[in-house]
Amino acid sequence: MTDTAFLLNGTPVRISGGSPTRTLLEYLREDQSLCGTKEGCNEGDCGACTVMVTDANGPKALNACILFLPQLHGKAVRTVEGICGPNGELHPVQAEMIAHHGSQCGFCTPGFIASMATAHTLQRTDHDTTLAGNLCRCTGYAPIIRAAIAAETAKVPDWMKTDQHNLPGAVGTGEAHSLPGAFRPTNSDDLADWYQQNPNATLIAGATDVGLWVTKQLRDLGQIAFLNAVTDLQQIEHSSGQLHIGAAVTITQLREALVPLHPSFAEMLRRYASEQVRNAATIGGNIANGSPIGDAPPALIALGATLHLRKGHDLRSIALENFFIEYRKQDRHPGEFVAGITIPSTAPNLRCYKLTKRFDQDISAVLGCFNLTTDNGQITQARIAFGGMAGIPKRTTHVEAAILNQPFTLQTLQAALPAFEQDFQPLTDMRASSTYRLTTAQNLLIRYFHDMNGTATNVLEVSL
Ligand SMILES: Cc1cc2nc3c(=O)[nH]c(=O)nc-3n(C[C@H](O)[C@H](O)[C@H](O)COP(=O)(O)OP(=O)(O)OC[C@H]3O[C@@H](n4cnc5c(N)ncnc54)[C@H](O)[C@@H]3O)c2cc1C
Ligand code: FES
Ligand code: FES
Repeated sequence: MTDTAFLLNGTPVRISGGSPTRTLLEYLREDQSLCGTKEGCNEGDCGACTVMVTDANGPKALNACILFLPQLHGKAVRTVEGICGPNGELHPVQAEMIAHHGSQCGFCTPGFIASMATAHTLQRTDHDTTLAGNLCRCTGYAPIIRAAIAAETAKVPDWMKTDQHNLPGAVGTGEAHSLPGAFRPTNSDDLADWYQQNPNATLIAGATDVGLWVTKQLRDLGQIAFLNAVTDLQQIEHSSGQLHIGAAVTITQLREALVPLHPSFAEMLRRYASEQVRNAATIGGNIANGSPIGDAPPALIALGATLHLRKGHDLRSIALENFFIEYRKQDRHPGEFVAGITIPSTAPNLRCYKLTKRFDQDISAVLGCFNLTTDNGQITQARIAFGGMAGIPKRTTHVEAAILNQPFTLQTLQAALPAFEQDFQPLTDMRASSTYRLTTAQNLLIRYFHDMNGTATNVLEVSL
């Protein structure tokens, strides 16, 4: 049983009953006959199901296929059917898609329109980034990008501005945690009490992992708690040279906060999944899932992050690197959740390099993060962490020992390369071979040296 209220294309809807893990995509197509929103992959990869979701922070593009209905409580959803005007007027991005021949078979088009209309409302012009999560098999991207550029100067239609204004009145003030069938707390005290009493429950933050357990593995999750209304876990606080990041902060919010502080980390996160996934995925989920190929943990470990865990009233803080014990095994007790992390707000020598088969929207084969401190040319501190090289995100203790208190020269780093074999015996899998992983990890250390010495190492700097 669920009781969820939101605005759908400007009209209030309230859903009582049904499974709390029913997706928005199923609801739109089956209950509302809004079949413009397409099902392609049903796992967050293709963007055919993209919708615009507005909350108090404004609009964002999300994948409806891995969005559970209770996550929408108090928000406004706009599907492709609600992006044209009340009298059928075309939205500027729709008109320009027609004018620039941006659609052939049309299957991807509603998803593109939802992404483009959201970006247009936000007056964003970084189209390569905002459209990286929308796949088109037949038109090709040039006409679509041309359409997005052509629509840039058109004013945002009035009907696209109403959702945020209408939010509170339309859905009422329903208590978030009165939701039957699934717990939906609004603060971390309530979450802590409930989770301590229900330690076998599944926590759902952005559902970019958990969504697939339902849509692909057809799992019944049993008892669940949604974290998306826990506002005190969504805060980023900057004080005394440190950044405290709540567990429910999304990757998009984190990236925005990191741009001025840790630009290399922020740039790496631009290649974390896609706009739609980053808008949902949380930093807490990225850490708690314990994946050896999660993108944030190596960068956080290189920064010396402290992880904060909470069980009932008890809080404990540990070095993030000690949280990951072995493949899919973390230092987290039953009923204990990730509350947040703390990182230093400056680390000018931090560099993060993500290697994937595709530039955008691809899981890392190898991710290397380097943070060396030097004094008078000597390496006085070394924190280097990798993803994709072991069963957990892991520091290079042997490499670090080999370079510590040595001059920061190419010779020092080259002499340390054999130590990578002591730190890692990587796997061969569909993403990369063991040899590729080991060789590229070593090469990234050399790249770091050149990068720190002002040599252009970013392939995107090459232009024709
Ligand atoms: C198309 C696609 C592309 C992706 N690309 C990338 C990528 O490039 N890089 C990358 O790193 N990841 C990627 N992912 C994986 C996913 O986005 C991340 O792992 C994400 O950070 C998970 O966060 P979430 O909030 O969605 O977690 P959820 O799916 O809600 O939860 C994930 C796990 O963490 C637990 N959990 C969540 N929050 C907490 C908490 N506060 N305390 C304790 N447990 C918690 C849940 O119970 C669950 O076990 C991708 C996923 C998809 C679908
Ligand atoms: S159907 Fe492919 S992202 Fe949702
Ligand atoms: S127009 Fe056919 S997939 Fe894009």
